[in-house]
Amino acid sequence: MCGIFGYIGKKNNAVNIVLDGLKTLEYRGYDSWGIAFTFIEYKAKKEIKSIKIIKKTGKIGGVVLSEKVRSNFALGHTRWATHGGVTKINAHPHLDCSNKIALIHNGIIENYDEIKNELISNGHNFRSETDTEVAVHLIEENYNKLKKQKIKNKKQKVRLRDDGSTFLEAVRLAFKRFAGLNAIIVMDLDSRSIVAAKNGSPLVLGKGKDENYLASDSHALQRHTRDLYYMEDEEIAIVKRNKIEIYDVKDGNKKNKVNFHRLTCSYKLDGKGSFSHHMLKEIYDQPKIINQIIRNPDKSLQKIVQLIKKSYGTYLVGCGTAAYACLEGTYIFSKIAKRHINYSVGSEFGYLVNYLTNKSLVLALSQSGETIDVIEAIKKAKTKGATIGAMVNVYGSTLCRLSDHQIYLHAGTEQAVVSTKAFTAKLAYLILISFSIIDKKDEGINLLSKSIISVNDILNDEYIKKISKLVKYLNRYNNIYIIGRGLSYPIALESALKIKEASYIHAEGFAAGELKHGVIALIEKGTPCIAFLPNDETYGASLAGAMEMKARGGYIVGISYKPHEVFDCYLPIRDCGIATIIPSAVVGQLLGFLLALERGINPDMPRNLAKSVTVK
Ligand code: G6P
Repeated sequence: MCGIFGYIGKKNNAVNIVLDGLKTLEYRGYDSWGIAFTFIEYKAKKEIKSIKIIKKTGKIGGVVLSEKVRSNFALGHTRWATHGGVTKINAHPHLDCSNKIALIHNGIIENYDEIKNELISNGHNFRSETDTEVAVHLIEENYNKLKKQKIKNKKQKVRLRDDGSTFLEAVRLAFKRFAGLNAIIVMDLDSRSIVAAKNGSPLVLGKGKDENYLASDSHALQRHTRDLYYMEDEEIAIVKRNKIEIYDVKDGNKKNKVNFHRLTCSYKLDGKGSFSHHMLKEIYDQPKIINQIIRNPDKSLQKIVQLIKKSYGTYLVGCGTAAYACLEGTYIFSKIAKRHINYSVGSEFGYLVNYLTNKSLVLALSQSGETIDVIEAIKKAKTKGATIGAMVNVYGSTLCRLSDHQIYLHAGTEQAVVSTKAFTAKLAYLILISFSIIDKKDEGINLLSKSIISVNDILNDEYIKKISKLVKYLNRYNNIYIIGRGLSYPIALESALKIKEASYIHAEGFAAGELKHGVIALIEKGTPCIAFLPNDETYGASLAGAMEMKARGGYIVGISYKPHEVFDCYLPIRDCGIATIIPSAVVGQLLGFLLALERGINPDMPRNLAKSVTVK
């Protein structure tokens, strides 16, 4: 949550560098943005009076700065509000009282209240309602105290410019006081340095020649440098034009060995191509991705198969869409590999780790590899000695670095906040792994090949027109109900999530059998009811559910391999055995996408959401 980017170096267009960096990070938060900047004349050693700030509410995507500003020292932020409403004042960066220190933040300072009261009584002037602002004032407070001590200690009459060491200490002492999971980047005019510290939220440093970069994701740095350092928790870095040093937050000791990774693979932002939206492009990417998974699966697939076979308890963990892929995994493994695999959403897994042992395998599923609830769950599982596997799309992400074994989805960048292709890629891998456990991988490949044909049938103008017509009907209602059984149950949940996220219509997915235990009370004349009816053992019972809804006046949308008279609208999908879940999911994605368009919503960036959720 929140994208952060910093630059210090030889180039004179730092504001634009930061602006472009923020655009690539916008999926992390997009309610407001801001940049702090200045120009340092290294030779002239002229005193700079204050840091300049640009702040705006709204998205940063299309922003072009009208005037050219000379700058070689800047940092910027795209916000996803936690404390304080979406206003220009609450947008980051935040300044100290002297306007010589600027700070950007990702996370929540849980004990901000107590620190704020203390700082106010010391005379600090707060301008925003954020928790973040306490950080910059506390740093200012520490910095002033430390500077005074230094002068006293050295009996100096003339104050010398700080070389950065005092500023580093001021930030370190402040950061040590913060409760919660946080990452901060702070720029200081006096020492002409940036200090970054992290605990929980991600931070990457990029080394250049006479210039250095900082960002919350590595891909934002790739166009500038491939020499990256992924900061670990409880590390603090001082970054100058030609130096990067890492220290320990706890004791302030310098780390002598700092290994920069040379990024070898490229994580190119795919763009929208000829499509109107990222989400639509990503939906259309799916046949190609599944084909690639079939032909050239990640090299760790076999390793994960072996680990599942020998583990004493395997647990699938994920959040949001990834959680539904995990739930689907339990059905796939039961059906194909005849294995009981456990499942939990990331935020709950921490409360269930008591039964983990060093024989357990935890397989974390995540597109971004940065979801804090998953990361926290994995850290807890590690304390129990469990082996950690990750199925993830973003190279070098925190989850990859925390896990013992990784399967990369190789799905290309997923930029729309509403996840699509990462979901079906995960399903394809879960199917392949299950069939590989019983040494029938080819059978899995065969079904996945069929699913590609089925998805291509759906991604066809006629089919899209049919769904477009249906969404005009759905748009007249405030509630949509979606049923499925067995393998189709997680698909019903995921389809409801797509509709909610993209179009803001309340959609509820549930196990068809549960219909009569409550939800049926909500069905009245015209209520849209969507039923997944694949060619498996669930067909008859789910059809009965559709009939029961019809009998109460429901408008029945049947997503099935064959038509039925109970359907008011029939959306056909080919039977691909267990892999029918893939085209079924694609229909759900299109419903969400087209409903969003019908309602004039940009499904790439729905309100209140962010792609990478790094706060609790
Ligand atoms: C956010 C996104 C969802 C996503 C979830 C998990 O809530 O809006 O689309 O499914 O995070 O993300 P992950 O990167 O861990 O798959």
